[in-house]
Amino acid sequence: MKFFIDTANLEQIKEAQDLGVLDGVTTNPSLMAKEGISGDENVINHYKAICAIVDGDVSAEVISTNYEEMITEGEALAKLDDKIVVKVPMIKDGIKAIKYFSKKGIKTNCTLVFSAGQALLAAKAGATYVSPFIGRLDDISTDGLGLIEEIRLIYDNYSFPTQILAASVRNSAHILGCAKIGADVMTGPLSAITALLKHPLTDSGLATFLADHAKAAGK
Ligand code: G3P
Repeated sequence: MKFFIDTANLEQIKEAQDLGVLDGVTTNPSLMAKEGISGDENVINHYKAICAIVDGDVSAEVISTNYEEMITEGEALAKLDDKIVVKVPMIKDGIKAIKYFSKKGIKTNCTLVFSAGQALLAAKAGATYVSPFIGRLDDISTDGLGLIEEIRLIYDNYSFPTQILAASVRNSAHILGCAKIGADVMTGPLSAITALLKHPLTDSGLATFLADHAKAAGK
């Protein structure tokens, strides 16, 4: 399973990249706003800065919601770097735009997906990635990981090449759940990735090893 980080924060992206396990980045307008990035030029420069840090795909979301404007915006984003994946919302014009981008060889990420039907449509349109938001489904007492299972089954039934990018991942249990089901990618915060490092027996075991070593060395 590929690990993407879901942030526009350059420090966190660098930290995840330095850890050696990062396969890509996802951003959205809220994450860009959180970093105080606004204005066309700043947004473009920020995407370029992210692409300079990571080796893998970088999702950049369109703001437009009508077909023609999505095409103009998406083509401009795709020209910034080969790593750019145009992130398009799951709406009627979005599906048409994904079909267009797919024919042009531009990578896409269909975002704001909350049902298996939406995921099926995104795959039919030729999306490179589909982003089901598991944390937001959990927030409304719906089974987010259950949706990943449904989409996995449907995509496997028909060998759709669209990759399941589990989004709105909030914690390490979500990451493990995605890995067990067979999501192709998960995107989450740095905290969820680094939480995978932690186990109390690792900490206590290491403390004992170091103490024993010091005792044997007469320290
Ligand atoms: O980038 C889309 C998605 O990952 C958002 O996550 O935590 O805002 O629900 P969240």
